[in-house]
Amino acid sequence: MKFNDLDIINSKLNYQILLNLKYVINKNKFIFSEEVDFLEKKLKKLSHSKYAITTGSGTDSLILSLMALKKLKNKNEIIIPAFSWLSVAEAVLLLGFKPVYVDVDLQTFNLNVEEASKKINKKTLAIISTSLFGRSCDLIKLKKICKKKKIIFIEDAAQNFGSKINKINSCSIADITCTSFFPTKNLGGYGDGGAIFTNKKNYYNRILKLRNHGQKKYSQSDMIGLNSRIGSLQAAILNKKINTFGNKIKKQVKTYKSYQNFFEKNSISGFPKYKLGDSVSQFNILVKKRSLLINKLKKNKIDYKIYYPKPLYKQFKQKINKKIFLNNTENICKKIISLPFNDHSNERHLKVLHILQNIINKNKDYFFEKKT
Ligand SMILES: Cc1ncc(COP(=O)(O)O)c(C=O)c1O
Repeated sequence: MKFNDLDIINSKLNYQILLNLKYVINKNKFIFSEEVDFLEKKLKKLSHSKYAITTGSGTDSLILSLMALKKLKNKNEIIIPAFSWLSVAEAVLLLGFKPVYVDVDLQTFNLNVEEASKKINKKTLAIISTSLFGRSCDLIKLKKICKKKKIIFIEDAAQNFGSKINKINSCSIADITCTSFFPTKNLGGYGDGGAIFTNKKNYYNRILKLRNHGQKKYSQSDMIGLNSRIGSLQAAILNKKINTFGNKIKKQVKTYKSYQNFFEKNSISGFPKYKLGDSVSQFNILVKKRSLLINKLKKNKIDYKIYYPKPLYKQFKQKINKKIFLNNTENICKKIISLPFNDHSNERHLKVLHILQNIINKNKDYFFEKKT
């Protein structure tokens, strides 16, 4: 059983996309074209941000955002979640900042805002939050804290693009928001791509140059940048996919709620409850006996993933972090499992629920029982 129905989603769009690609190929303008301008305009509107800049990937978006910050003397610490995809730690380390790891909440798998707040000191330059699995972090609270402490707030929205908090688009809250168009993301391309959103003109101007070798004009650079531009072909694909993006999120919400109802009916806990506005792109659950459950899933040919098996402080051979041990992060890494995320109305999803029910009937002790 496939992990998601990307094959179905993409096959429905491929005819239209191929026509678009043919048009772009015939024009022979592959970088900085009207397709890229069009995509940036659409992204700006969708995210309710003043500025939207496309980039080469979600990882590049994080790197460029950090490059855009004015490095201040004695301010080199960046607070990040200990449980996330490794790009966030990678970007911080690559630019020579010190990552300060903060534990996450067991209920949401996102940065614990109170813990993050306690780690702020004179050396803190910024906080980066990650909104994992399509569930927004408490961005409003974080924004208030960052404003009060005069530090920069960056949001990694690679997994929750399209989410809302109190009807506000989640990409318009932080000082700088990064996202990814990796194929499996909410808005997924046919290859790598990313974007940055901001309401602040100074960041916009800097990032615009930074993604193109720091150039002011052709061959005139006043800062060291990257080559991180989305191509016209990728932009043309995303311009088509963005039209069906809203529907895709509605379906994701229904799939998530279907899993939530299923486990609640079985009196099983260990997963975050759906919150209005979240774009919920995956269903992750903490289980007591993960390897036994995996054996059963394998026997029944059900695909699964482990997001993520290792805390970020154990990545990249960071010797300095050997003493760090964050309880919730360690716990989640050992107990989390991601179940297939196919459309709720699809036979694939119903089959997964059927097999899970059989597993639960015989082995309920694999799961955490809901306390009554
Ligand atoms: C939370 C998070 N941050 C950053 C990234 C990096 O995005 P990309 O793969 O486009 O570089 C990803 C993508 O997997 C992600 O899930």
